[in-house]
Amino acid sequence: MIGGEKTGIEPPVMAEWTGVCGLDEIPRRGSRVVELGGIRVALFRTADDQVHALEDRCPHKGGPLSQGIVFDRRVACPLHGWQIRLDTGHACAPDEGCVRRYRIKVENHQVFIAADD
Ligand code: FES
Repeated sequence: MIGGEKTGIEPPVMAEWTGVCGLDEIPRRGSRVVELGGIRVALFRTADDQVHALEDRCPHKGGPLSQGIVFDRRVACPLHGWQIRLDTGHACAPDEGCVRRYRIKVENHQVFIAADD
């Protein structure tokens, strides 16, 4: 950068990971809620131990996704049954909408969430 001008090349953003719980604290095919920056975030664990994180708020009318049924890579909202993809946060057709998704990593059976998402 010269004289404070931007070059258009930004340095890579390094994720800040925050430990939130142990993997075993999330029931298989279930969820656990944590709070991140004042937002309720639902951590979902699939039958094959994949962990996904979505804001705990259905894109339809705000239902608590953490209380839904987890199957395959989806959660069914407990209020009206919309199905939300855990890996993208998108509603499955014919419904439309999207909920905020957070990046997750699991190391040594500990679950970390990217705090900068
Ligand atoms: S609030 Fe989730 S399906 Fe209606």
